[in-house]
Amino acid sequence: MKKFRAFYFSGTGNTKFVATYLVRKLSVFFDVDMFDITQKADFAAEISGADIVLVAFPIYGSSPPIPMRNFVHRYGKEFYAKTVAIAETQYFFSGDGSASLGRTLRKKGAIVKYAEHFNMPNNIADGSVFKVKNGDELSGIVHNAVRRLDAFSQKIAFDKKFLRGFDPVSHAVGYFCQRKWWRKGEKGKRSAVKVDRQKCVGCGICIKSCPVGNLKFENGQVVPSGNCVFCYRCVNLCPKRAITLFGSEVKNSYGGLPVGEFLPPPDKFGK
Ligand SMILES: Cc1cc2nc3c(=O)[nH]c(=O)nc-3n(C[C@H](O)[C@H](O)[C@H](O)COP(=O)(O)O)c2cc1C
Ligand code: SF4
Ligand code: SF4
Repeated sequence: MKKFRAFYFSGTGNTKFVATYLVRKLSVFFDVDMFDITQKADFAAEISGADIVLVAFPIYGSSPPIPMRNFVHRYGKEFYAKTVAIAETQYFFSGDGSASLGRTLRKKGAIVKYAEHFNMPNNIADGSVFKVKNGDELSGIVHNAVRRLDAFSQKIAFDKKFLRGFDPVSHAVGYFCQRKWWRKGEKGKRSAVKVDRQKCVGCGICIKSCPVGNLKFENGQVVPSGNCVFCYRCVNLCPKRAITLFGSEVKNSYGGLPVGEFLPPPDKFGK
């Protein structure tokens, strides 16, 4: 049986849902396994030994997140001549979100054969630009994503080339509308986390859950280390709504990781 290996980065659960769903579906056709790329591990052997590698990530300003970009650079050698599938999750628009990482992968010699974008529930919790959806609205979004996931898994299973976002128009729109500006400001924003000391009760949830170890206690206060990758996990998980990044107040709160409740039973996930 051919080996299908999925590697994902997920701040608030959407991408984990997508990767898990694909792995579950494809377990009928392939020997499957999946990995969170923020786990401290060496994935070289897993990538080298795979027949198809899936990379899955959320889009930030039409740009793949820093951990996923670093992952592709770190394992560039292992990606050479490897067949790759890309799953990108978004609120509604990225232009060429998947192709943005696809181009880097191709430079490493990868054969990027399948790519798809999945609209998912919003995870921005300290701004009101994009309303966070609830109830029927939310399940409708997940339902549509699942339909797209079913179609995408068929394409991978039956080797039908499919590349969403790889056309020049999507590239121009993604780059000029968002990525160009996002990448310019990205470096300077890595200390953007703000903790409201009046609200914080020192529970440490944010510190334990940060995927890149950006937060620590210093003299009883939560302080950032300038390493933030903008995943919004701490903002969503803080029980006191004490954390903000780009906004100044947590306006929408769905409690974090909301899509878990829509997941099918996990009995066939991974190994
Ligand atoms: C900092 C940031 C920037 C984002 N930029 C975009 C964007 O450009 N386009 C979009 O449609 N969604 C955008 N989103 C929404 C996320 O891509 C989307 O919610 C994603 O599914 C989150 O995945 P996760 O739950 O696996 O972290 C952004 C979210 C964050 C936190
Ligand atoms: S999760 Fe919130 S309340 Fe808990 S330590 Fe972090 S900022 Fe403070
Ligand atoms: S500090 Fe918060 S937003 Fe930044 S990487 Fe850590 S969990 Fe994500």
